Amino acid sequence: MSDELLRQVQRHGSRPAHIAIIMDGNGRWARGRALPRPFGHKAGMQSVREVVEGALAVEVEVLTLFAFSQENWQRPADEIGALMDLLKEYIAREMAELESQGVRVRFLGDLDRLGPSARASVDQLMAQTSRGSKLALNICISYGSRAELTRATRLLAEEAAAGRLDPADIDEEAISRRLYTADFPDPDLLIRTSGELRLSNFLLWQLAYAELYVTPVLWPDFRRQHLWEAIVEYQRRDRRFGKVTV
Ligand code: FPP
Repeated sequence: MSDELLRQVQRHGSRPAHIAIIMDGNGRWARGRALPRPFGHKAGMQSVREVVEGALAVEVEVLTLFAFSQENWQRPADEIGALMDLLKEYIAREMAELESQGVRVRFLGDLDRLGPSARASVDQLMAQTSRGSKLALNICISYGSRAELTRATRLLAEEAAAGRLDPADIDEEAISRRLYTADFPDPDLLIRTSGELRLSNFLLWQLAYAELYVTPVLWPDFRRQHLWEAIVEYQRRDRRFGKVTV
């Protein structure tokens, strides 16, 4: 079944260059097993590994994962602590493998809010994988799309005030270049797990023309086959970007 899905993805001429994922449902997965929420996050780490391998197998170029939002700083301190510990565990455990697979990892978001040890870990993983060229893996932490757009606006205003930028030259490209995602094309496909029909302040600018795919599967149950199913569905869609098909 999964080999057939893989072949189906590969047979099709086009595939999404950039896939973004809102990884949701860890808490419900844990609750369903009468476990504390951090167990759901821990199980979700395995799904991260699955989608990285699934993306490599079908030559997706960019994978952007929403791991921790700005709003998540309002969760109970022990859950935040557990998430930060998991992040460090993920980095320590996966660094060598990610590097050998040719994955280049970047963390996008307000990294200044991270504690010193989490910050050191993310910096180390970014430096260690900086030569990877097979897959760009973006992990959004301490990320909020409105904050990202506010930051871009402030950067533009500062450049204009300093006389380095003519306000008449501010176009969509100028804004895109000041977002955390400046180096990447916009996502072609957004996947959200656990059935919720929301964007949750994720990549609001960048998702303007993305195809949306929502699955009821909870993130800790998400496997590479689920990624390929989403890609097969994407390949059936007719993307028109506001134009008509001729
Ligand atoms: C949403 O589930 C998920 C998160 C807030 C955290 C995502 C983290 C991971 C998948 C694990 C670690 C990831 C990396 C990259 C190391 P939720 O808690 O909002 O679930 P709920 O909606 O069911 O309560």
